[in-house]
Amino acid sequence: MDVLVVGGAGYIGSHCVRQLLAAGHRPVVLDNLSQGHRAAVPAGVRLVVGEMDDQALVRRVLREERIGLVMHFAALINVGESVRQPERYHRNNVVATLGLLAAMEAEDVRRLVFSSTCATYGVPERMPMSEDLPQRPINPYGQNKLDVENALRGLAAEGRMRFAAFRYFNAAGAAEDGAIGEDHAPETHLIPLAIAAALGRRPPLEVFGADYPTPDGTCLRDYVHVDDLARAHIAVFPKLEAPGAALFYNLGTGVPTSVRDILLAVDCATGKAVPHTFGPRREGDPPALYADASKARRELGWEPRHATIDPIVATAVRWHLAHPAGFGDR
Ligand SMILES: NC(=O)c1ccc[n+]([C@@H]2O[C@H](COP(=O)([O-])OP(=O)(O)OC[C@H]3O[C@@H](n4cnc5c(N)ncnc54)[C@H](O)[C@@H]3O)[C@@H](O)[C@H]2O)c1
Repeated sequence: MDVLVVGGAGYIGSHCVRQLLAAGHRPVVLDNLSQGHRAAVPAGVRLVVGEMDDQALVRRVLREERIGLVMHFAALINVGESVRQPERYHRNNVVATLGLLAAMEAEDVRRLVFSSTCATYGVPERMPMSEDLPQRPINPYGQNKLDVENALRGLAAEGRMRFAAFRYFNAAGAAEDGAIGEDHAPETHLIPLAIAAALGRRPPLEVFGADYPTPDGTCLRDYVHVDDLARAHIAVFPKLEAPGAALFYNLGTGVPTSVRDILLAVDCATGKAVPHTFGPRREGDPPALYADASKARRELGWEPRHATIDPIVATAVRWHLAHPAGFGDR
């Protein structure tokens, strides 16, 4: 399959590009490099630097490369920032996505895999979280993703697009061979922050809340290895052959992991204690979020190869030790 990977120079997209190559597909990357990295795109893979809603550019690339399917990872991803800059988030994550979809339709490319998020559920009514829970996002970022899901539902109902939307839980880890990993600026994700604190590259970590109704008082989240996420994107291809395909899957391991569990895993993998302090809870952080991913298991035969947190953190630590400045391009 000839696949356009939009946002393919970013964290999850770049891991997907490598998985596509390994599975014998031909990826082409489109990324504006606002967060992505040139060096995350393997040699021999075409990188087109540009905006996903640049109609002329996207249409030309779809045509030139005879693209059959688009994977769409491009978004602004910082939840706190989305609260402060809702218009910017709406413009980039929703309006620009509609531009991408229009270019696809104009070139008759009608298969899409979309990166959605568990943040579309807001504060869920029950655990673990299955796809039939009500979606009531509590921040603009989650709302953006739900808006796109709804737009896709509409297009699919009219026979104009076939799609799968994956609602990721917390992407984590790095490529097994250490070639690529997570390098966001600013970084807001717990594992890279904890590793940087352990390695003395940033001040002690502030843990938000130690008084949650959880076994150790800290929040529970579901960390899923980035290569496991990537594999699901390829496993879904046959499903997109069905007319009217409009598919939603949660992707997580289903293993609730606390902030303290993460600190212990980082202590263990680095051989250094993560310096940390405890602060108050952060508004809008539910005590627990973890997936029921049985639908993806059942329908896609998807099975995360990394089922526990220690090996996931170990891959991240290997990447950060070998790349103290990340991709070194900022
Ligand atoms: N990281 C997670 O834990 C997580 C969890 C749930 C959902 N997601 C979703 O997965 C996707 C990928 O996340 P990530 O962590 O790899 O983020 P990332 O920031 O590393 O990657 C996103 C990429 O998209 C590019 N981009 C952004 N806006 C663009 C535009 N208008 N035109 C072209 N390129 C653009 C950026 O330069 C970047 O390379 C995002 O859609 C995110 O919302 C991520």
